[in-house]
Amino acid sequence: EKGMYPHYMLKEIDEQPAVMRKIIQAYQNEQGKLEIEEGILTALNNADRLYIIAAGTSYHAGLVGKEYFEKIAGIPVEVHISSEFGYNMPLLSEKPLFMFITQSGETADSRQVLVKIKKLGHPTLTVTNVKGSTLSREADYTLLLHAGPEIAVASTKAYTAQIAVLALTAAVAAEKAGHPIDFDIVQELGIVANAVQAMVDSKEEMEKIARDFLSTTRNAFFIGRNLDFCVSMEGALKLKEISYIQAEGFAGGELKHGTIALIEDGTPIFALATQKAVSLNIRGNVKEVVARGANPCIIAMEGMEEEGDTLVLPKVHPLLTPLVSVIPLQLISYYAALHRDCDVDKPRNLAKSVTVE
Ligand code: M6R
Repeated sequence: EKGMYPHYMLKEIDEQPAVMRKIIQAYQNEQGKLEIEEGILTALNNADRLYIIAAGTSYHAGLVGKEYFEKIAGIPVEVHISSEFGYNMPLLSEKPLFMFITQSGETADSRQVLVKIKKLGHPTLTVTNVKGSTLSREADYTLLLHAGPEIAVASTKAYTAQIAVLALTAAVAAEKAGHPIDFDIVQELGIVANAVQAMVDSKEEMEKIARDFLSTTRNAFFIGRNLDFCVSMEGALKLKEISYIQAEGFAGGELKHGTIALIEDGTPIFALATQKAVSLNIRGNVKEVVARGANPCIIAMEGMEEEGDTLVLPKVHPLLTPLVSVIPLQLISYYAALHRDCDVDKPRNLAKSVTVE
């Protein structure tokens, strides 16, 4: 039930801080220690490579997950789009583990890969929001998202839930393998939940940004580097899907390799700056587009902000920034769609779960 909310999407955006806390709870035992099913940890630590298979927003969460499993747990990862992997399987490593990320657990493109992988006899794990869904039943193991039903076609709380669950899993796997991380993941996710709350409480600001940057435009670009690049792609997908504004998310460094030709007077560019190591580079990219007339909306993390930035995100652990930086992008897309009288919860030509290949 969407209650007092005009749309499920807005309700689901608002639920994200609570979902974050629910996940922390769900994965802790009575002593407050993080717990992941033993079989999953063994499968992760026995694998010489993790193959993440997913579609759409879940694919974008997988790109963030790759950073976690590689940087936190030291497991090499490949992330693949399920519809491509189905007919163009790469050379596999000797001991692969397959992880299917799917909110619904029903996506046909992902399921067809699961069926093929099972025939090959490799271990499989589904990360899903729906207990008892097809991909959950058919895989060896399941990790649940605990996000509650997601009704709006545009995925919001499932994306942040996926990222949180992947971060927790990577942290527990690292500990189990004998090389624990040097920060307290539960504490850091708690800080994230508060930061997400601050962002969902800034709706007026987001509505204004949507009005200022997107009310008349036909297209928009999202740029970032490293984890911000992953979130840029998700921001662009959200905007396309519900507002029908043509949008593209790409790596800041790629601008000069082609896309910059599209920049005209007033072209909106959403630039994310949450990653210290590449902050100078992304600032440089913003200068390049501004010199060509672009209208930049700069979203920076506290401590890295500069005068003239549009939005400052509360500071969180550098690996967890996607959980916070995506929130304004979700809200900006929501308001852009609303301003254009689009059917926010049921965008044209789309279904909540895509059960055909
Ligand atoms: O249920 P799944 O996570 O497998 O769905 C995958 C995509 O169809 C889904 O994320 C889609 O891209 C969303 N509509 C994006 O908001």
